Amino acid sequence: METLFSGIQPSGIPTLGNYIGALKQFGEVQEDYDCFFCIVDQHAITIPQDRLKLRKQTRQLAAIYLASGIDPEKSTLFIQSEVPAHVQASWMLTTISSIGELERMTQFKDKAVKQTEGIPAGLLTYPPLMAADIVIYNTNIVPVGDDQKQHIELTRNLVDRFNSRYNDVLVKPEIRMPKVGGRVMSLQDPTKKMSKSDDNQKNYISLLDEPNVGAKKIKSAVTDSDGIIKFDRDNKPGISNLLSIYSSLTDKTIDELQTQYKDSNYGEFKSDLAEIVKDFLVQFQEKYEYYFNSDELDTILDNGREKAQKASFKTLKKMEKAMGLGRKR
Ligand code: TYM
Repeated sequence: METLFSGIQPSGIPTLGNYIGALKQFGEVQEDYDCFFCIVDQHAITIPQDRLKLRKQTRQLAAIYLASGIDPEKSTLFIQSEVPAHVQASWMLTTISSIGELERMTQFKDKAVKQTEGIPAGLLTYPPLMAADIVIYNTNIVPVGDDQKQHIELTRNLVDRFNSRYNDVLVKPEIRMPKVGGRVMSLQDPTKKMSKSDDNQKNYISLLDEPNVGAKKIKSAVTDSDGIIKFDRDNKPGISNLLSIYSSLTDKTIDELQTQYKDSNYGEFKSDLAEIVKDFLVQFQEKYEYYFNSDELDTILDNGREKAQKASFKTLKKMEKAMGLGRKR
């Protein structure tokens, strides 16, 4: 069976964008792959985090993974900082990364400009840690949203470089993106990505937003003035974004939705979608509450840590051996 790995940062509460771009796919692939799902808290600290908030969000993210359909009997759910192989392998991959290629990462550039007190070095070396997450499990498939494409490309380059300089040790992963909703956009500014760290709460729907609040955000989402419900990312980014969200939450195709709403106005369309989002949040949060408050959560994370430690050890040792680290054993 092939191996699948993905991660989410506990740097805020995941949004509907994280659900549609990533979490929704995770629940669907468990039968087909040996899956590892990670709470990447060491990635989160590349920007300063409040200690207590980070702890809470880590636990919330674990419950969110489970509410999205991750079955701990089938998949391994764990916290990155509890499995030391991630940073150990990350250091090795950092030594074969060039500053130039890391500086070219769009996410680095975006996040670096927001820093007022100097750019943390961890923001620059973020991608080799991400590559390490992936390679230590001999991952074949990485399901992610569109914004992670460049990081996965870099991972593939680092794998080639490592394998050609040392032995053929690492598996080269493939990216997997959703057909619809790989890039869910901000509700008030549909030319930029929906993000959990956005300052304006109206731009995103958090998976833990009160369901009526979520519905209201859909109703007040920015569209355009021509009133036609048609998918056209370039000229009608607002309505196209809402169509993607609708399609993803109902599994109706965009074409089906365009036909269904060909004689409707934006108000009718938005009010239907608002109901769909509200129902989704109600059901999602019911499952979330159950896991967040259950003692099971710690047992699941303990088991995940054991399984992840075991699974990552072998490749880590192979990498060290290939680079000549430590003693010959
Ligand atoms: P993060 O925490 O920003 O996002 C988690 C996942 O959600 C996807 N995503 C989106 N999808 C659609 N529309 C959006 N607006 C949207 N915003 C986010 C992301 O593409 C991602 O799949 N660096 C990663 C975490 C990571 C990782 C990894 C992922 C660390 N190591 C190894 C895969 C494999 C990140 O910051 O994701």
